[in-house]
Amino acid sequence: MVDIAGIIMKNPVMVASGTFGFGKEYAEYFDLNKLGAIITKSITMKPREGNPAPRIVETPAGMLNSIGLQNEGIDYFIKNHLPFLAKYETPLIVNIAGESPEECVELATILSRESSVKGIEVNISCPNVKKGGMAFGIDAMLTEEIISSVKKATKLPVIAKLSPNVTDISSIAKAAVNAGAGAISLVNTFLAMAIDLETGKSRLGSLTGGLSGPAIKPIAIRMVYEVSRAVKVPVIGIGGIMTGEDAVEFMLAGATAVQVGTANFVNVDAPLRVIKGIEEYVSRHPRTLNLS
Ligand code: DHB
Repeated sequence: MVDIAGIIMKNPVMVASGTFGFGKEYAEYFDLNKLGAIITKSITMKPREGNPAPRIVETPAGMLNSIGLQNEGIDYFIKNHLPFLAKYETPLIVNIAGESPEECVELATILSRESSVKGIEVNISCPNVKKGGMAFGIDAMLTEEIISSVKKATKLPVIAKLSPNVTDISSIAKAAVNAGAGAISLVNTFLAMAIDLETGKSRLGSLTGGLSGPAIKPIAIRMVYEVSRAVKVPVIGIGGIMTGEDAVEFMLAGATAVQVGTANFVNVDAPLRVIKGIEEYVSRHPRTLNLS
């Protein structure tokens, strides 16, 4: 059993926001009840069309994306996605993104009325939008303002998802915890770019995007190590986790749980492989990692 701010999970493996949609496609391949928790793609108040294509580019040991928080808005989510996700016993955490603290408060208020929602992850780290997103998460005062506003609007556990595009990640994490965050998810993607040698132009429609995958894992491990020593709430490690060994490395660095993201695009059952890999490690090293 793993306890993240009161969200009880049967194992420490969650699926990362934006890499698992709203679960329906993956449910055709495996039982979502096997997951520790499901985190939805970011939801905003109003529908968003997202950024111009191309939106995804492969890079050495990773990928760049610039989706621009495309989604159909909170009303559509509650009517069309929530009933499906509510059927599962796996805790459901909804990821929210707002252009302002007020938008995040509105989203949290609406989601708090839904008994199937067990937690809120606040995306203050999207690198691909002009307003909100990473602009909040790279500033300790804005981080504190937005997390404390959300916290006042809901009794649900609030998880802050931080951006790695900062020099001092611990100070941002401390601001989020001071404001009432019950857990910290880190890291989101690294602001990055790739250029097409034939056209001389960016390979992404929006010029820059967020880098994820194995390329970022060592940096994410360092940040999880630092933050888990700087705050008393659980840290959820994210960044290029492809195998159980990768997940164990995050837990040895100080993470209580992990999220599998980019790997979902490589293997449809990536989170199950990670769960199995952790179990195998624990049976080989019962004293190194105590998950009971
Ligand atoms: C997007 C959002 C993110 O939080 C991220 O890390 C990458 C991309 C997006 O919707 O563009």
